[in-house]
This record gives sequence, C-alpha cells and structure tokens, in this order.
Amino acid sequence: MEKVIELKDVWVRYGNQIILEAINLELKDSSGLLGIIGPNGGGKTTFLKVLLGLLKPYRGSVKLFGKPPEKSKELVGYVPQYRGFDFDFPISVWEVVLTGRMSHTGFLKKYREEDKKAAEEALKTVEMFQYRNRQIGQLSGGQRQRVFIARALATNPKLLLLDEPNAGLDPHMQDELYRLLDRLKHEMAIIMVTHDLSAVSIYVDKIACLNRTLYYHNSREISVKDLEATYQCPVELIAHGIPHRVLNNHEGNQ
Ligand SMILES: Nc1ncnc2c1ncn2[C@@H]1O[C@H](COP(=O)(O)OP(=O)(O)OP(=O)(O)O)[C@@H](O)[C@H]1O
Ligand SMILES: [Mg+2]
Repeated sequence: MEKVIELKDVWVRYGNQIILEAINLELKDSSGLLGIIGPNGGGKTTFLKVLLGLLKPYRGSVKLFGKPPEKSKELVGYVPQYRGFDFDFPISVWEVVLTGRMSHTGFLKKYREEDKKAAEEALKTVEMFQYRNRQIGQLSGGQRQRVFIARALATNPKLLLLDEPNAGLDPHMQDELYRLLDRLKHEMAIIMVTHDLSAVSIYVDKIACLNRTLYYHNSREISVKDLEATYQCPVELIAHGIPHRVLNNHEGNQ
C-alpha cells in the first residue's frame, strides 16, 4: 500500500537559519492520529507547511501518497494555526466551507452541485450544518474551529493536518474537538500539532517530538527516555501530567 507520508533527510531554512534538520518520517497507516509536540519555535508549523508543499526543503525529499506535495494537494486538508481572518467580515459559515473546495473549482470559478454537496457533508460531519447561514463572527471559538475543520474536510482529504486546533478553547470545547477527531481518525490519517499533553495521552495513537529535528517512534510505544532523546521536549510535564497509555505502553500495562 502507498505510504501516507515519506520524508527523507529533509532540511529547511529561512535565509541562513536552519529551521528543520535531517527529518525522516514514514507514515504508513491510512488512519489514526499522530500528535506532534514541541517547544515554541521548534518548527512545527514549518513542518506542516513542508507537507503542504508551501515550503520547499533545500535538501531531502517529501512524498505524500507517493507523490510530491504539490501533486497531492487535494488529498490533504489543513487547519492553520493562526487564521489571519477578520471575524467581523460578513461571510457565512456556508461560504467559509465552500472556499475549501477552491482547489477543485479554481479561484473565483463557480461552485458546482458536487461542491455544495461536499460542503454540506463536511458541515454535517462536524455537526454544524444547522449554523450554515450564520456569520462566522457570530460563533463561539469552538464552533468556529469546527467550521474550519469542515472547510478542511470539504475536499474529502485522506490526510488532515491541524495546527494547535485546541488553542483558545475551554476544556469542554476541547473535549468535543478531540471526540470529533477521534471519530474522523478512522477515515483518514490525522496529524495534530498541540501543546496539550493531556490530550496527547488520551487521544493520540502515536506521538512525535519536534524541535528542529523530529523524534518519532514508529509504534504506539514510547517511553520517557524516548521523549528525552529530543531536546526540550517537555518530558517533565508529560511525566507528571499524563502518561498511562502513551508512556507506559512499552511495559504492557495500558
Ligand atoms: N516566514 C518566516 N521567515 C523567517 N523565519 C521564520 C518564518 N516563519 C517561521 N520562522 C522561524 O522558524 C522557526 C520555527 O517556526 P514555527 O512557526 O515553525 O514554530 P512552531 O514550532 O510552530 O512554534 P509555535 O509552537 O510557537 O507555533 C522560528 O524560529 C520562527 O521564528
Ligand atoms: Mg506553530
């Protein structure tokens, strides 16, 4: 079967500054949730942009579903970290989700019946269809986040990338979000960047640490020692906050 992601010795820089170094990652499972943790500035958002083909490595190779990122765009959904978005701008939930179809229709082309059908399905998946005529600015943070996930789902991606989707949500809303992802991960591979380590313990199937380079163990098993191997991954916090499933798996006492 085709690998979802295959990165080989990927290096990325902004100007003279190396941001990502010697990244290798092979993701074979077409379902499941990979959590990526790491310090601020560690390169997590940069890493997602590489997967999206928005940034080109100066060295190494990137393949998604056996193709370079620019040829696999329609297979990838993305929920960015900071949406530079004016929430007073008069645009409805429905319009936001339809823009997710732009890679299919092309910019400023008319939406077809199938685009509308896909938008409707995506909104139903995140249980926001009843809000379709609402202005985006008139939603709570958690509801808005669901709409942006629907937007990312509107192309029926096989890989969903989320950059700190839980930021700014209260614990209840975060829970709802994770439950949604828990449902979606059966239908697609999901990568979620997060600082929320308790979520990591409960919901992720695999975990990676990113701090300039990526530490990833290709199994559900990971130990504190493994995490420490990545500099500055917040092992202390993890060790006190979570662990049972993620950290103790290797001892077989889930
Ligand atoms: N467009 C850019 N030009 C120059 N440097 C950049 C650019 N974007 C990011 N950087 C730098 O690259 C490094 C990694 O940034 P990135 O946004 O990937 O980190 P991050 O892990 O997502 O951090 P956070 O947890 O704060 O979101 C940082 O040092 C940042 O200042
Ligand atoms: Mg970031």
